[in-house]
Amino acid sequence: MKIKNLTWDKAIYPRTAKSRQTITAYAEALAAGAKFPPIKVQRVFNYQDGQKATIILDGNHRCEAFREKGIQEIQAIEWKDQPLDFQENKTALLFESARSNISHGDRLTTRDKKQVARNIALSDPECHVREMDLAEKLGVSRQSINLWVSDIRARQRTSRDSTIIRLARLGWIQEKISDKVGLSRNRVSEIVGNANIGNIDTLLSQGHDMEYIARHFRMDLPLAWALKLHGKTDREKFKELGWGLRTWDQWYFNECDQRFGDDWPGRIPAQLIAHTLYYFTKPGDLVLDPMAGGAVVPDTCLLFERKCQAFDLAIHDRRPEIEYHYWEPGPETWPAAGKPDLIFMDPPYYTKKKKAYQEKASMENPSISSFSGKDYKGFFKDFFTLAHKNTKPTTTMAFLNADWRDFESTPAAEEKPDKAITIFDFHRLLSETGWKTIFRIECPLSTERLTGNQVRKMQDKRILGTIGRTLLIAKKI
Ligand SMILES: C[S@@+](CC[C@H](N)C(=O)[O-])C[C@H]1O[C@@H](n2cnc3c(N)ncnc32)[C@H](O)[C@@H]1O
Repeated sequence: MKIKNLTWDKAIYPRTAKSRQTITAYAEALAAGAKFPPIKVQRVFNYQDGQKATIILDGNHRCEAFREKGIQEIQAIEWKDQPLDFQENKTALLFESARSNISHGDRLTTRDKKQVARNIALSDPECHVREMDLAEKLGVSRQSINLWVSDIRARQRTSRDSTIIRLARLGWIQEKISDKVGLSRNRVSEIVGNANIGNIDTLLSQGHDMEYIARHFRMDLPLAWALKLHGKTDREKFKELGWGLRTWDQWYFNECDQRFGDDWPGRIPAQLIAHTLYYFTKPGDLVLDPMAGGAVVPDTCLLFERKCQAFDLAIHDRRPEIEYHYWEPGPETWPAAGKPDLIFMDPPYYTKKKKAYQEKASMENPSISSFSGKDYKGFFKDFFTLAHKNTKPTTTMAFLNADWRDFESTPAAEEKPDKAITIFDFHRLLSETGWKTIFRIECPLSTERLTGNQVRKMQDKRILGTIGRTLLIAKKI
């Protein structure tokens, strides 16, 4: 194998540093004509940025010595003869690498073994690898392993416990949580039952803030807030969160409350969702978010003690509550279990942020922001029909969107009527599919997102901008 094609991955290879002494000794032996046993490698895919690589499991010092002597190829044997998925086999690769390195001449130092134990613990967030097995593989006592990895395990356990508590509070049944986190149902039930995190109010009265408290209990901020607000009325929650309650059908929020939801293209303020929950649901109701993005709807449901099922084509570890689902045009299956009381739908506003959404999607399953205008409207006709079929007679549809015009480059008088997609189109599609719009709530965007220069250019070209964003509330007829 060509040495230049081999990868030394510090997270897999068990030595914290290369030993200069060993490399020199090998290089001298090579010069004297010594033969070395082959190194051990493994071909992998789904490595960094999804690339392929051939990583060294054993023989890094030999490679270095060969390289120093100007030899470009080295004999290698493969651990498994098929390429492995790197992300899925990280722990197995770490184990194999440690096993191979332990068994020969240049023994691993205690520091190396500690590093291996910590790397294995980090690569195994579900805590499947037992301390006993790690101790046996690395040839050290169980106490040493415990000392080396206990901080990592404690962090993993608390973050895993917060995931479990979050999912349970959003209404996931214990069987589904147990599948998600890889723990037995009994263990999940124990963790949910012991969700008492101590007295948040005492810490607050000692002058600590909610960020400190979330860190203290090793949980995310929205969950810490949800536990603090547990049992209060909706009105009390608004007050404690510092959100004024809007009485009229104009909901303007200067900015997103950064405490809730992730940084996400097209992120909406938690306050907007809180108002929808306040006026159109009650505690314990089930909310469906078909295109959940940065999870601001689940976070707000957590705060206001509503159950929530969330889907998106883009999913990530940080948000275990969002399940993968690709909504396709045409008749299709309905992924949600249980009939929701409210659907909160915040789809891409036609081609706005098309690039950002497409980066999260794939060519086979593109974001609806990449559809043509006709297909985009057709998609909603199908979705509203499907939602009508799969919900209760009393279900409310909350649908957020904005008028789409080519306002960024077209003067107002020249806008093409066949290109524009407006709130009236969505109102029409809702009524064609059995929904009646009963509220039209204006939730304008802030104008601050445009620079003075952009505004001047628009004025010069007589372009009429759009800051309108409308929440349509519909009921079944
Ligand atoms: C406007 S964003 C949602 C933002 C979210 N409400 C927030 O505040 O973070 C729209 C979401 O729709 C998702 N999406 C677009 N087309 C989809 C499809 N066909 N199936 C599932 N999700 C889709 C995108 O991945 C994106 O996250």
